Amino acid sequence: MARARAYREAAPSALIVYGVKAFPNVALLRLFAGEGLGADVSTLGELTYARKAGVAGERLIVHGNNKSDEELSAAVASGASLVVLDALDEVERAAAAGVPRVLIRVTPGIDAETHDAIKTGHHGSKFGLPPRQAREAVRLARAAGLDVAGLHVHIGSQLLDTSGVRMTIDWLAAFAAECRVELGWTPEIVNLGGGLGIQYVEDEPAPSPGEFVRALLTELDRAWRRHDLPEPRLVLEPGRSLVGPAAYTLYRVGVVKQASETATYVAVDGGMSDNPRPQLYGARYSALLANRAAEKPAGSFAVCGKHCESGDVMIESVALPEPRRGDLLAVPCTGAYTLGMGSNYNALPRPAAVLAAEGKARLIRRRETVEDVLRLEQG
Ligand SMILES: Cc1ncc(COP(=O)(O)O)c(C=O)c1O
Repeated sequence: MARARAYREAAPSALIVYGVKAFPNVALLRLFAGEGLGADVSTLGELTYARKAGVAGERLIVHGNNKSDEELSAAVASGASLVVLDALDEVERAAAAGVPRVLIRVTPGIDAETHDAIKTGHHGSKFGLPPRQAREAVRLARAAGLDVAGLHVHIGSQLLDTSGVRMTIDWLAAFAAECRVELGWTPEIVNLGGGLGIQYVEDEPAPSPGEFVRALLTELDRAWRRHDLPEPRLVLEPGRSLVGPAAYTLYRVGVVKQASETATYVAVDGGMSDNPRPQLYGARYSALLANRAAEKPAGSFAVCGKHCESGDVMIESVALPEPRRGDLLAVPCTGAYTLGMGSNYNALPRPAAVLAAEGKARLIRRRETVEDVLRLEQG
């Protein structure tokens, strides 16, 4: 929760909404709501999590690059304060569903410095509208009677510096100034999405939430003044930077196998089904033996999962004490885009999630059973 507070303190007048996709969980959403945060949801399922957690409509933002009519109607029923339009055909459909207030998601054509799969604001992205279409969406939405409150932009995730977002703010100010000239409209709300990265491994540091937000606020103020635009209300949608560093995944060590002169595998009781990021993005992690953390490293080991894929390797090389069957291997920084992106590959039940603070622990998602995995089977 310290990171949620850091966001709030750095931007007290902004609306901060948790990017639920990072880890959908009702108990966590309740805790964030208690800290004054809302929720950014991108599917009916995520919206249902937020509603179950009692997130107030005025702090609910509905996204999605392919919203169904059911999702638009559910957004209206939930009282969501903002629906972010991501396609021209959503204008009429949102108006027909009775959506009152919208943002237009614009694609600035900025290539964020991050893995290709988590860039979203580049030219040709599947997200948002290219500038000319975005201006057209503002015009059409206003003509359809929608309250077009502002603009949304999100250039990507796991950003390790502020340069891309600062450049985006400059671009957005120029775009807003063009909207004023062409449409006589300026944004009341500027939603800069999420994106702040976290330090997964020692050699890749990340800014703190406070540093990140202060840099954005300075740039926003400068860019908006330069174009003589009215001061906007800021919205931020952090996901990874709120929950990522908070979690350790605990695995039980099974087989330890010297596969070659250079590779000794430590096999654990999970893998790509509870954390597909190494396979999706070449993500790097560190690890420690939680039950022998004070012991000196005995060498470098590869950590692999138990799935039937040679690529099911979580860490290529990590220094550990001599691992033994039964040891507890802890992988830090696994709170974001891990369990939420998990699967039941190899019919493996997914692990539980436990909240631990001040010497107390609470189950916030129970461990799956093989019966859970089979529950949709018929016949
Ligand atoms: C529109 C939008 N907002 C917020 C987020 C959360 O991003 P992050 O987890 O990098 O903070 C994402 C994730 O990609 C997103 O697409």
